[in-house]
Amino acid sequence: MSDKVDFIIDGEEVSANPDQTILIAAEEAGIYIPRLCAMKDLVPFGACRVCTVLVNGRPQAACTQPVASGIIVENSSDKILKIRRTIIEMLFVEGNHYCMFCEKSGNCELQALAYRLGISAPDLPYLFPDRKVDATHPDILIDHNRCILCGRCVRASRDLDGKNVFQFVGRGLGKEVQVNSSAKLAATDIDVTDKAVGVCPVGALLPKRVGYRIPIGERLFDHNPIGHEIETNIHNSSVKE
Ligand code: FES
Repeated sequence: MSDKVDFIIDGEEVSANPDQTILIAAEEAGIYIPRLCAMKDLVPFGACRVCTVLVNGRPQAACTQPVASGIIVENSSDKILKIRRTIIEMLFVEGNHYCMFCEKSGNCELQALAYRLGISAPDLPYLFPDRKVDATHPDILIDHNRCILCGRCVRASRDLDGKNVFQFVGRGLGKEVQVNSSAKLAATDIDVTDKAVGVCPVGALLPKRVGYRIPIGERLFDHNPIGHEIETNIHNSSVKE
């Protein structure tokens, strides 16, 4: 008897291991499910909800939802695309994301998802929050205006770097990523080579003095949409530096 679990995504039959999430099982089948907080080598977190799919008609986060035999998953229906567009728009208007001035443009997963989903300008009103920039560290800066609270840096610092440099504080609109030092980033033991510095999907956590080393037009998403590498079965989860 097979120990595989069979289920359907967008009419396509997928066979998965019973301990896999929908997102991972889909990815191994060459089906891209958009995501922002999920990343290879990081424990699933379920924060951004960009990976929302309909499972037997009910919204679920594909990055945390385990596969189950016989489930019907919608990943590209009009209904699910509308939900995802709204989530992406909310992320844009809740922060200050000025792509034309951002060093991450072209390598930014939020920007790339907006393009993939056909969003050129959000319909929702901008909140224009007033947030801090911490440029105290000689090699790294944090611009909280661009932080989407995905928690990748929190998990990477804790689980991959073994340092716990970052943590979430506050709730609701007051929630933010803080460093484990009241004296700001410069007083932490973070190093520019830490995994935590490279996992930010947007331009919130950036190494200094490498801006525009890759020219606009030659960046990761300049010629192919985000998810292309999965749809063509080329597994490459790292952003071009
Ligand atoms: Fe699943 Fe963020 S990728 S909730």
